[in-house]
Amino acid sequence: MSANQEVRRHFASDNYAGICPEAWAALQEANQGHAVSYGEDVWTARAADLIREVFEMECEVFFVFNGTAANSLSLASLGQSYHSILCHEIAHVETDECGAPEFFSNGMKVLQLPGPNGKIAPAGIERMVKKRSDIHYPKPRAVSVTQATEVGTVYAIEELKAIWAKTKQLGLSLHMDGARFANAVAFLGVKPKEITWQAGVDVLCFGGTKNGGAAGDAVVFFDRDLAHEFDYRCKQAGQLASKMRFLAAPWVGLLKDGVWLRHAAHANAMAQLLHDELAQIPEARILFPRQANSVFADLPPYVIVALRQAGWLFYTFIGEGGCRLMCAWDTQEQDVRRFVADLKRLLVEAPKDVPIAAANHRKLH
Ligand SMILES: Cc1ncc(COP(=O)(O)O)c(C=O)c1O
Repeated sequence: MSANQEVRRHFASDNYAGICPEAWAALQEANQGHAVSYGEDVWTARAADLIREVFEMECEVFFVFNGTAANSLSLASLGQSYHSILCHEIAHVETDECGAPEFFSNGMKVLQLPGPNGKIAPAGIERMVKKRSDIHYPKPRAVSVTQATEVGTVYAIEELKAIWAKTKQLGLSLHMDGARFANAVAFLGVKPKEITWQAGVDVLCFGGTKNGGAAGDAVVFFDRDLAHEFDYRCKQAGQLASKMRFLAAPWVGLLKDGVWLRHAAHANAMAQLLHDELAQIPEARILFPRQANSVFADLPPYVIVALRQAGWLFYTFIGEGGCRLMCAWDTQEQDVRRFVADLKRLLVEAPKDVPIAAANHRKLH
C-alpha cells in the first residue's frame, strides 16, 4: 500500500485487523525488563492456565507463530508418515497451507471429503476409510474439522458428536482447526468444552490472531499423551519462540474477563448486519447461512471489479468461490453501511462490459 493510500477497514480477512486494546495492553505490560526465554516465563504460564480455565480441563498448551504451524505440527503428531488425514475438500489444511501438513509429517496424505456448507459428516468419513484397506492405501489415522468452517458455518454439538462416534468406531483421532473457534463458540452460545473434549476432540488449534491477537495461535492437546515430545517438534520446525512472552501475553489480554468472546460476538453481529443488508439486494446471492463472522455472496462480475476500483479489498477464491466478506473484532456498523452503499451505487453506475476474468483474479487489487 502506498503511503498516501487511504486506510480503511476492509472485508478481506479478519487478519487485516490490528491488535485489540486488551491484547495490546497485555503486550505492553509484558514488555518490562527481562523474562526467561523459550516459554519458561510467567506470561506463558498465565496464558496456558487461562486456556485450561476456559476449557475446564488440564490440557497441554503450546504457542506457535501462526495457524498453519499449529495445524500442520499438531496433525503430524497424530500419526506416522504413511498415515492419512481426512478433511473437507476446502479445508484450510488442504487448500491454503502450501502442503505444510504433508511436509511436517514427512508425507502423511490429506484425503478430501465433499460435503455441503463446508462440513464433513460421518458417512463421508466411513466411505473414505472403507474405500480401501490394502497396504497400498495411506492408512487413515485422523479426521480434521474446521470450526468455524472456511465458509463461515458452524458445526453444532450433535454434528461433532456424530463425527466423534464415527472416528471412535474407525480408530481415528479428531483434530479441530479452530482459527475462528471464538466465533463458533459465540455463535453457538456453548461452553468451549462442549464442542471440544466433550465432543471427542483430541487436539484443537485455537486461533488468537483473527480474534484480536498479535501473532501466535495455541495448540491445545486434550489427549495429553499426544503432546509427547511436541515441544521438540515445535523447536525443529522453527516454532519455539525465544521471546515467547510476546506470543503468550496477548492471550492473557484476550482470555481475561471473556474479552475473546465479546470480540467474536461483535464480529459475528457485524456479519449478520452485512448479511441482512445484502439479502435485500436482488443482484447479491448469499451462498451459505451466516453463522460465524463472514458472508459469502455471488455478485455480478462488473460490480466486483468496480468495488475493487473503489478501493475495497476482499477475496473471491476461498471456499467454493463467490465474494468472501469477513468481519473482524474492529469492524464498525459504518464500515458495513459504507460498503453496502458503494455496492448499491456501483450496481447502477459501474460499466457492465468488463471481462469476467477481471473479477476472478487471485490477487486482491
Ligand atoms: C480456517 C483457517 N485455518 C487456519 C488458518 C491459519 O492460517 P495462518 O497460517 O495464516 O495463521 C486460517 C487463516 O486464514 C484459516 O482461515
